[in-house]
Amino acid sequence: MKAPKYPQYLPTVDHTKFPDWEEVPFVDAGSRGTTDKRNLFLPGSKHKPITPRLGEEIDGVQISDLSKEGLDDLALLAAERGVLVFRNQNFKDVGVQKQLDTVRHFGRLHIHPTMPYPAGIPEMHVVFKDPNSTAPRLSSIKPEETQSVSSVVWHADHTAERQPPGVTFFVALEVPPSGGDTLFVSATEAYNILSDEYKKRLEGLKIVHDNTSMLEYAASKGLPARFSPSTQLHPLVRTHPATGKKFLAAIGAGEGNGQPRYIHGFKREESEATLRLLNDILQRSGDIQARASYEPGTVVVWDNRVVGHSGIQDFQGDRRHFVRISAMAEVPV
Ligand SMILES: [Fe+2]
Repeated sequence: MKAPKYPQYLPTVDHTKFPDWEEVPFVDAGSRGTTDKRNLFLPGSKHKPITPRLGEEIDGVQISDLSKEGLDDLALLAAERGVLVFRNQNFKDVGVQKQLDTVRHFGRLHIHPTMPYPAGIPEMHVVFKDPNSTAPRLSSIKPEETQSVSSVVWHADHTAERQPPGVTFFVALEVPPSGGDTLFVSATEAYNILSDEYKKRLEGLKIVHDNTSMLEYAASKGLPARFSPSTQLHPLVRTHPATGKKFLAAIGAGEGNGQPRYIHGFKREESEATLRLLNDILQRSGDIQARASYEPGTVVVWDNRVVGHSGIQDFQGDRRHFVRISAMAEVPV
């Protein structure tokens, strides 16, 4: 196999500690977006829904050329459609500074608490799979008893942060010929499909989110624990600040090592049954899901608040190399 095309972005294990996040004010870039997305859907560009309820595929516009107003429109569209698949982007080749500055438009950049990052770039999370690599990956450090028949693990990223990530860029550097897609589910539509009576029951509930086990497990495997463990109480039904729409913030709740742990104030059986039901709805409702595939030059942008996602590890013997850059959003309400 040829050498990696993007060696600057290869994962390195760095044990640097960072100060714990302090709460900072947040204004959603999407709240400045335009209804018709005129600063994003520039003349000559094309866009189409991936499904009626979720996702938009966009071609003929370079993210790297967008104005601040264009990025505001991008944030609003991501909030409305959940996931945006941008084709034929030069973004992977515009340099680290431009890449970070672009995502910084949407908020403070997140640093992964445990996983490797490219040398000197803690704000980039590397997703790298290579048959010849010995670099640590999440799946390779999973204990045997938690291994599953399927690679699908629905979740939203880092919900145990005080200000969990919102706009998230997933930049394809090298992609396998096929496979390695990402599944998405709309948390907004998952809320909408519930009955009014059930919505009423969920209103006001809070979920305890906790990343302690991730940090402890990483530390036990010699991976960094860069921050103190975080435990947060976030609403189960959240409201997006840019769209005003409610969504179900319960993706991956109560499952395995997921960060949403249990419903505050419920007894164990009540919490488990409720979260099991909500996750059955999220995971089994194909009509509110979409799938993003990757080509060279693809950049996928999702709003981590309003979608859940899962990678699919269905490729063998090929290299897959991505970087993820996430902007932290509001304290959930
Ligand atoms: Fe993820």
